[in-house]
Amino acid sequence: MSRTSLNQLRKMKAEHKKIAVLTAYDSSFSHVLEQAGVDIVLVGDSLGMVIQGQESTLPVTIDHMIYHTANVVRGSERLFVITDMPFMSYANIDQALHNAARLMAEGGAQMVKLEGGAELVDLITALTQRGIPVCGHLGLLPQSVHKLGGYLVQGREQSTADKILQDAISLEKAGADMLVLECVPAALAKIISEALTIPVIGIGAGADCDGQVLVLHDMLGITAGKRPRFSYDFLADSGHIPAAISRYVEAVKNGEFPTAEQQY
Ligand code: KIV
Repeated sequence: MSRTSLNQLRKMKAEHKKIAVLTAYDSSFSHVLEQAGVDIVLVGDSLGMVIQGQESTLPVTIDHMIYHTANVVRGSERLFVITDMPFMSYANIDQALHNAARLMAEGGAQMVKLEGGAELVDLITALTQRGIPVCGHLGLLPQSVHKLGGYLVQGREQSTADKILQDAISLEKAGADMLVLECVPAALAKIISEALTIPVIGIGAGADCDGQVLVLHDMLGITAGKRPRFSYDFLADSGHIPAAISRYVEAVKNGEFPTAEQQY
């Protein structure tokens, strides 16, 4: 069995077929996701919080990401694998090239994800010109939580909404092949998803994105503390982890998730 390719994911967007994405950090869950029909696994730096018990994603290192990516890759044969570049692992172009190459060569990632807008254009151009597929990440940027002043919805005002849209266009022009939009108003996410030709994956960004992603522990209802408004406890309805993940895939694919309650 070969892994899902970027071409297949682009075709899904063109054919208006929704893309189901979940995070995973180990081999067992990677296997469960694959069996349930998930399209993409994101080895998110959210592992800092849900696996390591840190207060934010900031303490996560490139070695942590390589370790978890390799475990996830071993657990599946078909999933498309995206890995987060952690905080300050892409502070300049040389460092980004070195660390992205490690995530791909040692971890087995097919794509790396970076948080930020137009300021990353040169860096994304350098990565993509060397054959490293890049997923952008706009809206709420967890690696910038202290600068943003908390985990807050972004793009509510016209000026910030315009900036996110322009950033999205710049990232696509720089060569990004996918975009994650986190915690932005659904109306803005719809405009961005329609403006870009690359797949736009939303988390707290409404139902009109090309796909949806959730943090696995949130959608299983086992994250410590309050579950974010944009998530949903699929395990509470299913009572069985594989069934909960299959139900998530079904709800994303047929447009039942997210509902108005889970968007801004
Ligand atoms: O780290 C992560 O899990 C993420 C998702 C929240 C999109 O970046």
